[in-house]
Amino acid sequence: MTAADRVRAAVAAVTDPELRRPIGDLDMVREIAVDGDRAHVGIVLTIAGCPAAQRIESDVHRAAASVPGIAEVVVEVGVMTPVERKALTEKLRDGRPARQMPFGPESLTRVILVSSGKGGVGKSTVTANLAVALAEQGLAVGLVDADVHGFSIPGLLGIPAGTQPTRIDDLMLPPVAYGVKTISIGMFLRDGEAVVAWRGPMLHRTVTQFLTDVFFGDLDVLLIDMPPGTGDIAISIGQLLPHAEVLVVTTPQTAASEVAIRSGLVARQTGQRVIGVVENMAAFALPDGTIIDLFGSGGGAAVAEALSEPGAPVPLLASIPLSPALRTGGDAGIPVVTADPTDAAAGAILNLARTLSAQGRGLAGRSLPMSLS
Ligand SMILES: Nc1ncnc2c1ncn2[C@@H]1O[C@H](COP(=O)(O)OP(=O)(O)OP(=O)(O)O)[C@@H](O)[C@H]1O
Ligand SMILES: [Mg+2]
Repeated sequence: MTAADRVRAAVAAVTDPELRRPIGDLDMVREIAVDGDRAHVGIVLTIAGCPAAQRIESDVHRAAASVPGIAEVVVEVGVMTPVERKALTEKLRDGRPARQMPFGPESLTRVILVSSGKGGVGKSTVTANLAVALAEQGLAVGLVDADVHGFSIPGLLGIPAGTQPTRIDDLMLPPVAYGVKTISIGMFLRDGEAVVAWRGPMLHRTVTQFLTDVFFGDLDVLLIDMPPGTGDIAISIGQLLPHAEVLVVTTPQTAASEVAIRSGLVARQTGQRVIGVVENMAAFALPDGTIIDLFGSGGGAAVAEALSEPGAPVPLLASIPLSPALRTGGDAGIPVVTADPTDAAAGAILNLARTLSAQGRGLAGRSLPMSLS
């Protein structure tokens, strides 16, 4: 190995923070020359003004300087030609044609919808924390905010206003927060812009684009934060992802269970499978032991029982207590599962994440890859 080979190997291993692959694999490394203890390193970025440019440049600098015998490094940064960029996007798509939804029945990604009948039961809060918990367990996690009118995921994950997906031609790279690749309509709106007037076709196009044009790469799990109820978006998602699994979120209030049951039944009509019920805002204990059950009890179990069928029981997977830390974490954009894992609600969500990842993905309805050789 020459000194230039060693520098090339070190530089090629630098990870692109957005594409999350070594820049060598992404064909971003160009000419490398070593003259004495001085290395000259050429790299190209996907687009001019690439937001990750500084980070990549300094990582490349550090990598080259770490090679024994190199004392001085000059990094020259260029930009890919349109042809090179096209080759890269094709490589990233891994043979999959543009505009093809990658989460169909053959996909290896587990798709889990988080839905409820009633609004305000904590779907988004639970989804954001569950996504972070799953990512902390080492899974590759994507999160689609399908609540177009009432999006709240960017705030819950602390994604600063104005953050947009990076585009490489027609490929959109989702922002990553707490290890979760996230997409939301909130990333496409200008300050104060509203989507209140959007109706069915526009909503359908939006969720279709989230699932088709956003490049998530290989995911273990894709979580979808649903809007409340069983409106246009639920119908669109039902058509796009008929094989998805569904978590139904409800409060312990038995009066609220009716609508939660309905949302589960509607999901099932499209072919989706209800894998469990999550009860949120359950009773919590004060330090002196007093139990506060603001919303009563039993709602989660009631919904689970009502959605169970002979041979297909629907379990109550978690009961998440009311928790000031869960709420303040949401308001601050720092999910409680990382901010305070000892909190009781955080613990319940971390357990839920463990339960889900232990299940692996449901194989129902999928053809198993078989080899006769
Ligand atoms: N276990 C909990 N303890 C305390 N507050 C909670 C809990 N779960 C959720 N909240 C709070 O309740 C409010 C509603 O939560 P969230 O927005 O997640 O509900 P949602 O079901 O997604 O609502 P929508 O139907 O509007 O999408 C938020 O202010 C959130 O911080
Ligand atoms: Mg919500």
